[in-house]
Amino acid sequence: MSSLRPISVNQLTEKEAALELAHLAEELAHHDRLYHEQDAPEITDEAYDALVLRNKQIEERFPHLKRKDSISERVGSQPLGSFKKVTHLKPMLSLDNAFKQEDVEAFLTRCKKLLHQETLELMAEPKIDGLSAALTYENGRLIQAGTRGNGDVGEDITENVKTIRTIPSSLKGSYFPKKIEVRGEIYLPKQAFLKLNEEREKEGLSVFANPRNAAAGSVRQLDSAITASRPLHFFAYAVVSDEEVAPTQEGLLKLLKDWGFIVNPLIEKCRNEKELMAFYEKINAERSSLDYDIDGVVYKVNTFKDQEALGFIARSPRWALAHKFPAQQATTTLKNILIQVGRTGVLTPVAELEPITVGGVLVSRATLHNEEEIMRKDIRVGDKVLIQRAGDVIPQVVRSLGVEGSRRADPFPFPKRCPVCGSHVVKEVGEVAWRCSGGLICHAQTLEKLRHFVSKHAFNIEGLGHKRIDYFWEKKLIETPADIFTLEQRDRHKVTPLKTEEGWGEQSAKKLFEAIHQRSQVSLDRFIYALGIRHVGQVTAHILAAHYETFEQWWAEMQKETAYETLLTLEGVGEVVATSLKNFAEEPNNVHQMEKLIPHLKILPVRRKMAGSHPLAGKTLVFTGTLKNMTRDEAQAKARALGAKVTNTVSSQTDYVVAGEAPGSKVQKAKKLGITILDELEWEKLFQEK
Ligand code: IVH
Repeated sequence: MSSLRPISVNQLTEKEAALELAHLAEELAHHDRLYHEQDAPEITDEAYDALVLRNKQIEERFPHLKRKDSISERVGSQPLGSFKKVTHLKPMLSLDNAFKQEDVEAFLTRCKKLLHQETLELMAEPKIDGLSAALTYENGRLIQAGTRGNGDVGEDITENVKTIRTIPSSLKGSYFPKKIEVRGEIYLPKQAFLKLNEEREKEGLSVFANPRNAAAGSVRQLDSAITASRPLHFFAYAVVSDEEVAPTQEGLLKLLKDWGFIVNPLIEKCRNEKELMAFYEKINAERSSLDYDIDGVVYKVNTFKDQEALGFIARSPRWALAHKFPAQQATTTLKNILIQVGRTGVLTPVAELEPITVGGVLVSRATLHNEEEIMRKDIRVGDKVLIQRAGDVIPQVVRSLGVEGSRRADPFPFPKRCPVCGSHVVKEVGEVAWRCSGGLICHAQTLEKLRHFVSKHAFNIEGLGHKRIDYFWEKKLIETPADIFTLEQRDRHKVTPLKTEEGWGEQSAKKLFEAIHQRSQVSLDRFIYALGIRHVGQVTAHILAAHYETFEQWWAEMQKETAYETLLTLEGVGEVVATSLKNFAEEPNNVHQMEKLIPHLKILPVRRKMAGSHPLAGKTLVFTGTLKNMTRDEAQAKARALGAKVTNTVSSQTDYVVAGEAPGSKVQKAKKLGITILDELEWEKLFQEK
């Protein structure tokens, strides 16, 4: 499907117009599905808007050709099948888009004319590029949350929304209508989006194209624990209610704040076109420094009476306008495709570009994510490519524009061997990423593995951060974990010891050696975590340490034939983790590394509490809701380490239910059964008891 439509609307014959409207209906429906249901759009918002605009222009010229399935009659797409449906009190509408100052001028003139007013007050708000949500409160309590869906019916995301901290579970203050729907935008901060993608890339999972998709993907999770693990936020900007709660948008925003919502702090009141344009320019300039993605600003007639008088056209209010920002896109040439190898061995293709400025930032590289992405977009070396900064941050290749004149290069041959160590690349079932199988011999991985080894939650060696590790790595002084602990001894025999090197002195060298020495005593869980075994994070390391108690027992077990089966008997250890541990222990390279490392360390055994000595030993716990100070996984691991059993369902066997924020129905069940319910504070006190 092409989005290039060379014939100007004025020149279209009626037959051509009808044909094009049919095409547009189909094409837009396709993009809607990708955007709303699969969170995986193929085209940019700007390209989509251009199609909508073209559709609108053709309809304006040939009103009788307007189709029933036209985009102007529809908002968004059908709800997902797997969620319950919610019907909105009033439809959730879309906004008319403006791209130029003249559009804003026309909007203002029309509003003033229809209202017979000389002047008009408007609220100017950033247009948050997130996921719109409608939250229903009854008697001040959050009882339901829905996505926009097709505008009339959305998906029920109540359980997931309850995990979002910036959405109050009950309204503050004493005044609110008995039933009210609060509308606004759920979003994922850019930083969180980057972190999430980084993790997904490491895991070999497909990455989200932008924060909006990541937010949508996070909210539309059937497992609300996944939603809870993503730091989503909410900006409130509208309500639907039978009662008038405030006379103006300005008053409403203040009320929303009083009720405990977060209202965007950049919103301003404007009195004329000049002020609107100044707001637009100011926000556009601030855009890249904000921690959330915006794609324009929204102007809203301030007084609700005026809004009512202005009413709606089709599915957009006449009293509001979305003034979009120009696209952060540019065209350049793809010079080459490089392959980067990460700590976990994932091979990531990176586009090397003819440097170009995109939205004020010089871009010379862009991620291509994985092989499938290159094939799907048919991107080839030498092509002209369209570049965009996703979520205003990561440069990415939107699509190839082919080459001018000369013949196109062949499709990119994805390497079958690791470009760093030459080992074979492998792909796990269900993953899109190729991985180097070189383990500890692959230098790309060993440097990353070393950085991980000394990191905060692993060995946490003071004075041996990323930069220093890189420094010793470049000087070939630290290439394996064992080298860290022999550094001082080797240094003594050097002609130019560390203290004489540039940037070092007697004190700093001594301090580093002391810090290393100090950390050669390490707890078993930190040690296991430090090894950087795939799928073995802090929680799993904790579970393993609690079970095996000493390094010797753990490592001996790992060498046995029965290791896999034994691992599977542990709560919290599944097939993926067990396979990964087994693979690690079987690799001769790793065994060799371990033999070199262990003599330098004192790995402290887990001090097992005498059975029954801790109040949690032998107890059965259920966790529900979101804890503030630790993740659910951490809490569960702590409980298990103290000898408690953690289950998912409340029954008469349950001793305690730990209820965080926005707990589910488990609390009710616990109350019915007379089971002790602990809040976060009580839980913390309990597990901290000696
Ligand atoms: S007001 C009648 N205000 O933009 C429409 N919408 O294109 C009421 N959006 O579905 C919407 N920031 O998801 C409004 N400050 C803001 C907004 C905003 C983002 C989104 C919203 C809406 C879409 C319309």
